[in-house]
Amino acid sequence: MTPDSVPLPRAVRPADSCVMAVFGASGDLTTRKLIPSLYNLAAQKLLPDGFALVGNSRRAMTDGEFRRKVLAGIEEFAPAPASVDAATLGWLSERLHYLAGDAADHAMYGRLGEAMAALDAARGAGGNELFYLATAPEFFGPIARRLGSAGLVREERGAWRRVVVEKPFGSDLESAKALNDELKTILTERQIYRIDHYLGKETVQNILVLRFANGIFEPIWNRRYVDHVQISVAEELGVGGRGGYFDGVGVLRDMLPNHIFQLLSLIGMEPPISFDADAVRDKQVEVLRAIAPLTPQAARRDAVRGQYGDGAIGGIRAPSYRAEPLVAKDSSTETFAALKLTIDNWRWAGVPFYLRAGKRLPARSTEIVVQFRAAPFQLFRDTPVEAMTPNQLVIRIQPHEGIALTFGAKIPGPAVNIGTVDMNFDYQSYFGAKPNTGYERLLYDAMTGDATLFQRADMVETAWSVVAPVLAAWKDAPGDFPNYEAGSWGPDAAQELLRRDGRRWRECAG
Ligand code: BG6
Repeated sequence: MTPDSVPLPRAVRPADSCVMAVFGASGDLTTRKLIPSLYNLAAQKLLPDGFALVGNSRRAMTDGEFRRKVLAGIEEFAPAPASVDAATLGWLSERLHYLAGDAADHAMYGRLGEAMAALDAARGAGGNELFYLATAPEFFGPIARRLGSAGLVREERGAWRRVVVEKPFGSDLESAKALNDELKTILTERQIYRIDHYLGKETVQNILVLRFANGIFEPIWNRRYVDHVQISVAEELGVGGRGGYFDGVGVLRDMLPNHIFQLLSLIGMEPPISFDADAVRDKQVEVLRAIAPLTPQAARRDAVRGQYGDGAIGGIRAPSYRAEPLVAKDSSTETFAALKLTIDNWRWAGVPFYLRAGKRLPARSTEIVVQFRAAPFQLFRDTPVEAMTPNQLVIRIQPHEGIALTFGAKIPGPAVNIGTVDMNFDYQSYFGAKPNTGYERLLYDAMTGDATLFQRADMVETAWSVVAPVLAAWKDAPGDFPNYEAGSWGPDAAQELLRRDGRRWRECAG
């Protein structure tokens, strides 16, 4: 199919009318993601006229100052600044408001309620209210409690009230459970939208389509044909200005039980009976539950951690993690983690899933590799074994979004020499580039009441319980850090994790 023959997308209706409140509105997320995404939705006519937003933080700002601050972010982050359209900008700008106040102050919620009611009356939002918690995680519970006691999340007369909770959702199983329990005393599960921004990525959503809208993959998507699966999230960046947050968290908590497990569950899940939110999430959680629990011994053997030292990326010197701002000079926080898991069910028994995430690696690349078993019989005896690369289905999540299937082909010439070639689907060349921060779909879904791409309480808790043995194994034994150079593919032990199984990581191209 050529790009010209790609059918036009189905018409999508604008989101429900609503007033949205953003806590933490002076922060980065609002400027970099939320407002640019709302702009992109508005440009696609997916926000209704009955929409308004009120930002809240402690910082004193007028509506005008707030508008100028966040709208400036659109130019920078929207991502196609040349196409910023004055009419859309004006439309959005007049719907943006600001209320300064301390989210810890009970009285502030009375004022917020009044401000939202006034905006609702002015715009005709029908009583629907969306609360977005873009604050530091320690405020999630307290804000929800105060929303509850101020009566702001009570659903009356057919209007909805929803709360979007940002990442991180807890820092281990106990804290995630405690937060879930707290939220459940105030909200029903249906009202809670736990964000994982990986699910906003088109390529991640496409995993469901790849698997369940095509007949050719399902018969081979199992232990009979799949040798193993690799999921890599490699970043060139270090922790930059986020050392204060990251040093208390580490890459395992930051990336594995959320982003990487989302990818794992979409790759590993059974077909859902429909695309209803709970039908999909039931299957996702089922596969997470089927992950074989790591014994303390397996946690030490099958989990690898690393921390970068000095090095260079693309010829540019990169300082060690311990020299980053707001990082302890003797920090034992990991900036690289790799993990081997198995899924104990009929589809995946015996198929290892190798997961890795790291900062300051040689390339920025998120990809999933489904590696198939080798041909049953090596017919080409004279061909060097290393030339017989296995078939891989490579799902490139970012950058250069696409899917490639690698296979062996005869190199033209009188002798039989086999080279690895691929069939390659590239998103951009088929569908063109669309301005997208990754939050558009998630915001739209929260406003229309589709929770499919949000994490349910049981998913979050199951994910934390999978990594709990690793957290326990690492807690009392500081790592021998630094143990990889910035700009390398992580510690040797990560290579060894696969080598001892006779496998190796695919080198992500970036
Ligand atoms: C965030 C993590 O959730 O995801 C960051 O806190 C990480 O540490 C980021 O860099 C990666 O997201 P993306 O979309 O750039 O792959």
